[in-house]
Amino acid sequence: MPWGRRTRRRVERQRMTGTTRTRNKKLLAWVEEIANKCKPERVHWCDGSQEEYDRLCAEMVESGTFIKLNEAKRPNSYLCRSDPGDVARVEDRTFICSERKEDAGPTNNWVAPAEMRAKLDGLFEGCMRGRTMYVVPFSMGPLGSDIAHIGVQISDSPYVAVNMRMMTRMGQKVLDILGDGDFVPCLHSIGAPLEPGQPDVAWPCNADHKYIVHFPADHSIVSFGSGYGGNALLGKKCFALRIASSMGREQGWLAEHMLILGVESPEGEKTYVAAAFPSACGKTNFAMLVPPAEFEGWKVRTIGDDIAWVKPQPDGTLRAINPEAGFFGVAPGTSIKSNPNALKTLNANVIFTNVALTDDGDVWWEGLTDETPAHLIDWQGNDWTPASGRPAAHPNSRFTAPAAQCPSIDPAWEDPAGVPISAFIFGGRLSKTFPLVFEAYNWREGVYWAATMGSEATAAAVGQAAIRRDPFAMLPFCGYNMADYWNHWLAMEGKVENLPRIYRVNWFRKDENGKFVWPGFGDNMRVLRWIVDRVRGRAVDAAESPFGYMPRYQDLNWAGLDFAEDKFRKIMDIDRKEAEAEARDQEELFNRFGSHLPDEIEQQRVALLKRLEEAPDTWRIG
Ligand code: OXD
Ligand code: MN
Repeated sequence: MPWGRRTRRRVERQRMTGTTRTRNKKLLAWVEEIANKCKPERVHWCDGSQEEYDRLCAEMVESGTFIKLNEAKRPNSYLCRSDPGDVARVEDRTFICSERKEDAGPTNNWVAPAEMRAKLDGLFEGCMRGRTMYVVPFSMGPLGSDIAHIGVQISDSPYVAVNMRMMTRMGQKVLDILGDGDFVPCLHSIGAPLEPGQPDVAWPCNADHKYIVHFPADHSIVSFGSGYGGNALLGKKCFALRIASSMGREQGWLAEHMLILGVESPEGEKTYVAAAFPSACGKTNFAMLVPPAEFEGWKVRTIGDDIAWVKPQPDGTLRAINPEAGFFGVAPGTSIKSNPNALKTLNANVIFTNVALTDDGDVWWEGLTDETPAHLIDWQGNDWTPASGRPAAHPNSRFTAPAAQCPSIDPAWEDPAGVPISAFIFGGRLSKTFPLVFEAYNWREGVYWAATMGSEATAAAVGQAAIRRDPFAMLPFCGYNMADYWNHWLAMEGKVENLPRIYRVNWFRKDENGKFVWPGFGDNMRVLRWIVDRVRGRAVDAAESPFGYMPRYQDLNWAGLDFAEDKFRKIMDIDRKEAEAEARDQEELFNRFGSHLPDEIEQQRVALLKRLEEAPDTWRIG
């Protein structure tokens, strides 16, 4: 198919007359090739300016995709309602197309690259007809940081372009830094060409064909059919986790589904930790934690709430950056009580997706206020009252907001050098078996505890473990064989002199009446402070349990909380039978990986079983 003369002239004009300029040959050739194939109406190179953002938002208000919110209540903010069939990540349509199936591993969908490319080739032919093709240069991480990497997303969705401006560093400044260098090509189409005379819809997408595809061998991403979140904002899960994990394996660093926070003591001592929890376990809340009032002078500072890139340094430490520049957070449950810092981040300059609209032009979601409004327009645009019997906001409704607006953002959050990581924390949602906190005896054991983490699937039958495993909270996000990824973590031991310590936490243990014992939220600071004391060499006396080192009652600071010692024991006890059932249940996970499973990981499981054999029926802090 010859490269259309009109389109060529337009691309040329956009490139040479707009404020966006590049001489990057690979990029120019790729944009030309994609425009030729997808046949958009026009091509726009995003410069990342405020004017451009405002114009695209205004155009989406005009087309019915965006609703401008009440300027007095929520300045410069918009509500967007997606297609009801395009509301979340589509894991069953997400593929890792490595040459060999076993390199994708048993936990990823795999299709041979040539077969997938042929399929996508057909789908992309003319798929942007009638639409604008946006070229979105972006940096994952502070501009110019040695830990950062550059990508360029092509997309026919203006929603993607404006969200990418918030979630990444985007625009001309990225092309200036890129120069002739390499970038990760991220091709995206909503897969909804617009024929002449055909009326458009507010949220075009493709109901029949959705593909979220990763080619680890050439570090590229192709996404078709969805305009939503992790399917479409390709810098996030696709690049910063799946492709980056693969790059990290090749280059000796870690791309993790982790928040990063800094704990600041009254004396100004700053300790950074990174923490992984499966989705819906309060990662954003933990990243923005407000310490109890009695912890005078203690502060928690936020670096990131979802993704960490962690690189070994010549001085033998690990330093981490948040590759993102915004939060794409789940709205329901976010309130002034659960997360005041998140709520304050949302005062202005926000894009809300699939939340409810109030009668005075503001937003609402379940859990935002104690009192439910008498009338709303729900996430699908219908009238709603408390009697409607359905949620007003979609459970996966989201806010996109600039990280810089977060009151707890750390002054170092954009430091190109990153921050030094002293501890990794892993946790799931587990009503029994697992204590509030323990420290792995060593790096290898820590990797084992992270590999076997997960959240409860259902109320477990007596004596049975029923955990939905989510190793490292990376199950949907690891770009290669999960067992090889464990090996990559194990191998850090030989490469990094000052490795962080590894912790498991569990905020969700329940009592015999099915009630949560631990208050959670700000009180998690008590656990965080013990972790800081440990890594700083202060809380040197700890109990040695079958799981790992554990704080004794007197090792935690209880100021301002009435939490008796027997309650503490309730969430620290280790029931031998439950723990053995857990260790045996892990075998099923390990067996899936065949010869890829590192011996060391299985040896850790065996060692745990052995320690349990020697433990009393109920192990309890002495
Ligand atoms: C997310 C997720 O959206 O983990 O961050 O699902
Ligand atoms: Mn996430």
